[in-house]
Amino acid sequence: MPRSFPPEFVFGAATAAFQIEGAAAEHGRGPSIWDTLCARPGAILDGSDGSVACDHYHRWEHDLDLLAGLGLRAYRFSIAWPRIKPQGNGEVEERGLAFYDRLVDGMLERGIEPFATLYHWDLPQALEDKGGWRNRDTAFRFAEYAAVVQHRLGDRVRTWTTLNEPWCSAFLGHASGEHAPGMTDPVAAITAAHHLLLGHGLAAEALHGGRRPASVGIVPNLYRVTPASDSPADLDAARRLDGVQNRWYLDAVLLGSYPADIVEDYAPLTDLSFVQDGDLDTISARLDWLGINYYSSFLARGLDAPRVPAPRERPTPWVGCEDVETVPNGRPVTHMGWDIEPSGLTDILVRLATDYPSLPLYVTENGSAWDDVVTDGAVHDPERVAYLEAHLAACLDAIDRGVDLRGYFAWSLLDNFEWAWGYSRRFGLVRVDYDSQERIPKDSAHRYAEIVRSRSLG
Ligand code: FCB
Repeated sequence: MPRSFPPEFVFGAATAAFQIEGAAAEHGRGPSIWDTLCARPGAILDGSDGSVACDHYHRWEHDLDLLAGLGLRAYRFSIAWPRIKPQGNGEVEERGLAFYDRLVDGMLERGIEPFATLYHWDLPQALEDKGGWRNRDTAFRFAEYAAVVQHRLGDRVRTWTTLNEPWCSAFLGHASGEHAPGMTDPVAAITAAHHLLLGHGLAAEALHGGRRPASVGIVPNLYRVTPASDSPADLDAARRLDGVQNRWYLDAVLLGSYPADIVEDYAPLTDLSFVQDGDLDTISARLDWLGINYYSSFLARGLDAPRVPAPRERPTPWVGCEDVETVPNGRPVTHMGWDIEPSGLTDILVRLATDYPSLPLYVTENGSAWDDVVTDGAVHDPERVAYLEAHLAACLDAIDRGVDLRGYFAWSLLDNFEWAWGYSRRFGLVRVDYDSQERIPKDSAHRYAEIVRSRSLG
């Protein structure tokens, strides 16, 4: 029996500005922390950067045609803060705004609803020079930038995401150093996480206070965390990993408090004195929907002693979990080495609907990287097709269990710059040849189009 999606269920695809746009120095765009990190020797696996990427800044019409050709009616894209405010503060760059103006009009002309993300990791370097997200002031600058963008696009864009994956910005950026700004200071990471969330709250306030109706969400990256056994050490490992990865963000935004057990775990490092009165009220004010980026799940095991990183190995991004390791689930992994666990997505959606009821949910990212090859002008990617089908089935399982899931965005429309992995990992439904900039829809793109057209998984 084919299983059908509800009639109003939204199918889309997602991208992010730094990963696809290129044109890094065009039309007054200022440098971002990712430009800076890319210039640091050894930071990016293949030594690449975002200066050209998918050249989407010049090829956006064709890329929107691709989306429309797949029958997708929604596009989750991000706006580059350094194009709008090249210095992070002050002067607004009209040519940057004009680009997104054209892009949004292009979506509407093709019947595609824009889902705009305001921060997908490309902080203006000028703000990093003043302390970046370690500096409370950045949260206020973010809200100002959000207001500028909404003022310009809010007549056509209704759905806004403040932050994409604040855990990554904070902990991959400041604890493990894998992401920009490439620091390895655990306290800086915890501080940055708070200021990011404060920025979310202030930006949400600004968007809701604008003249146009705004539907505002935030997008954490969530994982199902299961103890590897029922030993006390494994149970505690799972509690902590779930706490720092999932609950820290969910509780702050949805309950207005940080989880007490993790506050206690962090106590030897910081008393959280950067959290000021009223911050958590701001952070937990009205939220219209929640986006979930889901890729994988964790089996957590507690170790007898904290792991000491080998020479040249990065410190763990999971501050407070130095004596925790994640163990493979024994099944095949993607090209990222990530466990494939579709049931984890259902479990997360059901958990959210249970723990934080009445909140509309979207899967804002889900997808897989594979070492694709081009054969006679086509890309046969059965693994990506299987991953897509299994995760869409997991969405249907959640809907069957009463979850208010409104839509699904595949990551990604295009192969693109996969952060510290450079161009060595391909997540696209559409292949990008980085030399010719030719686009080739893969088998997974054709399969997704078929699912979207029939609104069912046959
Ligand atoms: C997510 C990011 C996205 C992309 C995918 C693979 O963490 O939001 O930009 O890199 O992972």
